Amino acid sequence: MSDPWAAALAGPEGEALATQVDRFLTHRELWVAVRTAYLDEQVRAWTHAKPKMRQVVLLGAGLDTRAARLSCRGVRFFEVDHPASQRDKRQRLARAKGYPVKAATYVACDFEHDDFLTRLAEAGFRSDVPALVLWEGVTPYLPEPAVRGTLRRVASGCHPGTVLLFDHFLKKVIDAPSRPAKDDQARSFVETLGERFVFGTNDFVPILFEEGFRHVRSLSFDEACLSLTGTYLREREFRFQRIVLASRSPVGRV
Ligand SMILES: C[S@@+](CC[C@H](N)C(=O)[O-])C[C@H]1O[C@@H](n2cnc3c(N)ncnc32)[C@H](O)[C@@H]1O
Repeated sequence: MSDPWAAALAGPEGEALATQVDRFLTHRELWVAVRTAYLDEQVRAWTHAKPKMRQVVLLGAGLDTRAARLSCRGVRFFEVDHPASQRDKRQRLARAKGYPVKAATYVACDFEHDDFLTRLAEAGFRSDVPALVLWEGVTPYLPEPAVRGTLRRVASGCHPGTVLLFDHFLKKVIDAPSRPAKDDQARSFVETLGERFVFGTNDFVPILFEEGFRHVRSLSFDEACLSLTGTYLREREFRFQRIVLASRSPVGRV
């Protein structure tokens, strides 16, 4: 896996942040790589399947470069993000030499005030066609009602063949009494960036069921890492994240 644009988009400030985080999140680089590689593999599989997903939606896209890296004939990528984040990204893209800016359709949306499906439809997204929806690195920062609201809109407003992929934290990172000291450092650091870890759960099945999903697969980071690298180390600190695939209709692929 390689991302020819990551360094240019992150800039020196991104490198500096990563170095700071590595002091207390020892295996951060590996788990971000595992998460990226796993979701990349899913995007590749779904956009090359027969029949294939013709729409890929990146909810809270941030500096995601999948539209450029994983573009596929006949597949449209939509990047939905807060207007301020999207403005910043587009300035960075303009400076990243050779980046195919037109690989994605950019949809500005504040999840707290706008309905993302309305915004997507205005940009050409079709809710009568299945979509692969990626929601990466976002759920820890949203209160549970906002997480549920997004799940409900995907389940009720998209084609039943739509597949949602997202990651989430476990409860121990959020609940103070049982939190390891290193997780407190991670929380404090995120708070200096103006963000907060607010939501985590050990079991997403009840929430997904209540919001309309009927098929769920959940994967730990150790499992994803083992599949992707063939390695396992007991002392790896993959202690607070899982990756979930959810859909309304049965899907054969995880
Ligand atoms: C931690 S970043 C994750 C970015 C990317 N998906 C990744 O995994 O690297 C969280 C993203 O959620 C977006 N976000 C947070 N709150 C939002 C809101 N109220 N409306 C729209 N986007 C929001 C931010 O703009 C940001 O792009």
